[in-house]
Amino acid sequence: MGETSASFCKLIPESGESISLSEIISALSFAIELTDGAVHGHALRTCVLGMRIAVEAGFTSEQKASLYYALLLKDVGNEEVLGLRCDRGASIVSKLGMGSLAADAVNNLEEHWDGSGTPHGLCGGEIPKLARVAAVAQHLDMFSIGRNSRVAIETLEEWSGRLFDPELVDAAVALHRRGVLWEGCRGEDDPQATRAAVLALDPNKKHRLDEDQIDRICEAFAEIVDAKSHFTFRHSIGVAELARGIAEYLHLPPHRVRLVWRAALLHDLGKLSISNKILDKKTQLTDREWNIVRQHPGLTRQILEQIAPFREIAVVAGEHHEKLDGSGYPNRLSACDLAIESRIIAVADVYGALSEDRPYRPGLSFAEILPILNDLSGRKLDESCIGALLSYLSDHTPIDVSAEVGARRITRFCA
Ligand SMILES: [Fe+2]
Ligand SMILES: [Fe+2]
Repeated sequence: MGETSASFCKLIPESGESISLSEIISALSFAIELTDGAVHGHALRTCVLGMRIAVEAGFTSEQKASLYYALLLKDVGNEEVLGLRCDRGASIVSKLGMGSLAADAVNNLEEHWDGSGTPHGLCGGEIPKLARVAAVAQHLDMFSIGRNSRVAIETLEEWSGRLFDPELVDAAVALHRRGVLWEGCRGEDDPQATRAAVLALDPNKKHRLDEDQIDRICEAFAEIVDAKSHFTFRHSIGVAELARGIAEYLHLPPHRVRLVWRAALLHDLGKLSISNKILDKKTQLTDREWNIVRQHPGLTRQILEQIAPFREIAVVAGEHHEKLDGSGYPNRLSACDLAIESRIIAVADVYGALSEDRPYRPGLSFAEILPILNDLSGRKLDESCIGALLSYLSDHTPIDVSAEVGARRITRFCA
């Protein structure tokens, strides 16, 4: 279990450590690969292979910079991989700040050198160069899984001139013969070694993100999580808005409000690992299915902990199902372990979940949620956070909170 949110010293400096886009994206690519049918570590290995081939083939600095993100993010816009229910891939990719060259590469990944591919049947040099190298790299990784690298290279050569650009195949073969193609990116290599190779190859590593850019990336990943099931199509964003409102009404300083915003956006990242058969199930979950569901906060934490400046965000996000009386999961923490930031997100998450439709019931009205909050207040959920939530809802929604509260003897209603 390790440290809890309450163990963080709140004297941590306000400004976060500087961070590059690749540090965040390479960690979050693990989250994408938690989804059904995805191959673990594939995006990172493809990135290393593709960048090495691009260097060998003499790509320009601009091409390499765009290619890098195209390789890491190629599956974000892929509806099959993520099972996105709506056409949100393009919006997510643009929020991640990927330039047009990179987007072009992702959109043309399935084109074939001989014109037999999709979606446009482009042929040879008509296919964007970045898409051609991305196709070679992703297939090389797939060909190598469960086999050795020599077989992968031979398979690549077999398809040269049909699926793949022969010049790029030659570049890959030359690297393979010199023994410098596969280091750190074989299927059996430690994912952390592959991630280190990815970070070392980043052509943009000197470019550090500003705080607003980090927020945009968290928002994009919240969209990816929300798009997984139509029952949660706005859950992470909605919970984050409520959590930010509660944090502001509790007068947390701006940098703590920002931490709450990011942790709430990312709190259900681990849900990408849960099959839609479970998430969308209309009947009661079996014990085995419940066990799977209960693992998601821990996975959220594991993924976010890989981003060093997100260490506290990881812990707070991983505590969103913990309860003050020790009845929550995954670690049955209790009040003394749970900092205000975690308590805020727990309240926002319960309110968000109750107000949304679920496969087994329609969303509840405010009047129906109120007695439930009343029952949980002080026992499982923090009373002051519930008070702040009611104040926030009163000021920002058409809900007549004071009339309902007066009629129902709810918890202390103050910020
Ligand atoms: Fe959750
Ligand atoms: Fe949630």
